[in-house]
Amino acid sequence: MNTRELQDEIIRLKKEKGVCLLAHAYQSQDILEVADYTGDSYGLSLKAKESDAQTIIMCGVRFMAETVKVLSPEKTVYIANSEALCPMAQQFDLPRVKQLRKQYPDYAIVAYINTTTELKTGVDVVVTSSSAKRIISNMKEDKILFIPDSNLGGYLKKQLPNKTIELMRGGCPTHMRVHKGDVLRAKKAHPNALVLVHPECLAEVTELADYAGSTTGIMNYAKESDAKEFIIGTENSIVQHLQFACPDKKFYMLSKECVCHNMKATTLMDVYQTLKGDGGLEIQLDDDLIKGARRAIDRMIELGG
Ligand code: 13P
Ligand code: SF4
Repeated sequence: MNTRELQDEIIRLKKEKGVCLLAHAYQSQDILEVADYTGDSYGLSLKAKESDAQTIIMCGVRFMAETVKVLSPEKTVYIANSEALCPMAQQFDLPRVKQLRKQYPDYAIVAYINTTTELKTGVDVVVTSSSAKRIISNMKEDKILFIPDSNLGGYLKKQLPNKTIELMRGGCPTHMRVHKGDVLRAKKAHPNALVLVHPECLAEVTELADYAGSTTGIMNYAKESDAKEFIIGTENSIVQHLQFACPDKKFYMLSKECVCHNMKATTLMDVYQTLKGDGGLEIQLDDDLIKGARRAIDRMIELGG
């Protein structure tokens, strides 16, 4: 089978089995083309909740599939490639959160969605990169302990000067490979280009950017802007997707190093095999875990709008 035949077969199987296929924006172009919904982690969470399909296949990383299961426990949820894990989600665990509660008794604990389901049972609210600013500013609490991404947390701290935000050391190993020197080099090579970056990048990078936002935020900004050239500081698949979406504009990588091997683990063949019942992994979470994590995820949706 070639790629097009495989895509046709995936579309046929999805219809026959009533499956909804969700793909994070960092997935490859051939997967995005057959997905029912593509977007950032906030958008994927909402879509999963709204979908009528009984079975959902997530192309992304494990915490995304687990979030879908927490929001829709009655649905059968698969991750298309069981090896796809977010390394940032392994940096903090529930015992550490319990210890932080004792250390910071008068702080609300806000966790980035890139965390384990177990950790989410111990925090006050979950946020994503596109919803964090809105959620934290809507919270009645003024003292916030933000985990685990100190780069996104530092970015929020600057955006929300009325809140006291404490940070812990953690972050995305992919985005932290990009440095100030990469921005200066790219700007010199493409002086007319706007620099669009993800807030998981180091402060020395976001400070030099024209825009910082989620994967969907970056894509919408580039599509809607009158500018013709853009330097993209997030996972490099976004450069390719934008080039497909806007063939009249030019997109450049901020750094060749900005590749997430976990996001890249899933292939079109994984999607096909999961649909055939011959691959992927069904997400199984026990009821107490779902109930415990649901509180902070529901609060994300309630405050995030
Ligand atoms: P988004 O919320 O922008 O999709 O980010 C998720 C992620 O893992 C970025 O590295
Ligand atoms: Fe995790 Fe970073 Fe990969 Fe996103 S890009 S999934 S935060 S390692």
